[in-house]
Amino acid sequence: FRTLDDLNAAGRRVLVRVDLNVPVRDGRVSDHTRIDRVLPTIRELSDKGAKVILLAHFGRPKGERKPELSLEPVAAAVSERLGRPVAFAADCVGEPAEKAIAAMNDSDVLLLENTRFHAGEEKNDSDLADRMAALGDAFVADAFSCAHRAHVSTEGLARRLETVAGRCMEAELTALESALGDPERPAAALVGGAKVSTKLDVLENLSGSVDLLIIGGAMANTFLLARGFEVGRSLAEPDLVATAQRIMFAAENRGCEILLPLDAVVADKLAADVDSDIVDIAAVPADRMILDVGPKSIAQTVARLENCRTLMWNGPMGAFETPPFDRATVEIARAAARLTKAGKLNSVAGGGDTVAALNHADATADFSYVSTAGGAFLEWIEGKVLPGVAVLQR
Ligand code: 3PG
Repeated sequence: FRTLDDLNAAGRRVLVRVDLNVPVRDGRVSDHTRIDRVLPTIRELSDKGAKVILLAHFGRPKGERKPELSLEPVAAAVSERLGRPVAFAADCVGEPAEKAIAAMNDSDVLLLENTRFHAGEEKNDSDLADRMAALGDAFVADAFSCAHRAHVSTEGLARRLETVAGRCMEAELTALESALGDPERPAAALVGGAKVSTKLDVLENLSGSVDLLIIGGAMANTFLLARGFEVGRSLAEPDLVATAQRIMFAAENRGCEILLPLDAVVADKLAADVDSDIVDIAAVPADRMILDVGPKSIAQTVARLENCRTLMWNGPMGAFETPPFDRATVEIARAAARLTKAGKLNSVAGGGDTVAALNHADATADFSYVSTAGGAFLEWIEGKVLPGVAVLQR
């Protein structure tokens, strides 16, 4: 795919799709990660003398103009992080957008209002796409985390304008490709989280590309049932036991080893600082529940990671929001961070709870790459084609 290196930006109106779907509390942005990831693209285009026109969605207004889902407060946050003024236009097409763009000088930055205020955005409507495309001379796709949506601003524009990937998109694709496309081996994936049912395609796809699949979180319980262990009152999906068996059988046939917990931390209920015990995986009491994997499992996982060159991480190992059930997530994340820092491991993480779990472990900074994408990351590791990526590869 083409990148900013291939774009002649000076003096041109460049539409840039970014992901500014950031958490806002009391009118203020409470986590700047997504904003910070797109600053290099904005800065580079502005420094090259482009008129930088940012497009983004915010929340799910479903085609309605909802004042509480306006991007205006986010424009102020982008400006603050960028250290340069960022103008705002009250619509992403039509007169407000046209006027604001006509008033731009080279190097100026402008944010247009929430693209999802128009019902055509999510329908990838061709009229809306034509109108939006007419606002720019070129398109930069920099929202990997929205690339699983075939919307006007993620897909339609790329069919109408000269298009390149921005620096954030480039970094995401390069990192994901290094971990899944052609990983250095041995390659491992760690998949945790609550439910097997939400990760069937993830497990199936990963077991076809990695050598070792480490399963943690409550979803491991369903696999333990499939191996004939009792899991007491633990969260599990008994109707997926046959599916878990099939996944394990298929993985082993493809040369992918599945690593399940050897021991567990059990308690009567999920609550902070309740009494908990460590038990062997064959001795989970009928009246208690598994809330984290135990120390033997942690040691086993870390020992195996020491011999791996690549790790793809998705989901927590235990109920990490409720200490002490955060221990396995924290210790394994820190071990992966340490191996990465020592140059021994390429570690890529993303999807849903993963970033929060790695932040909680203080491990994010030392991972090779932590994706800002939730749904898009999951679809990628499911092996799906993302429309916003496919359109870059045409
Ligand atoms: C996200 O927050 O994962 C992206 O911004 C996509 O948002 P969506 O799920 O509403 O399309």
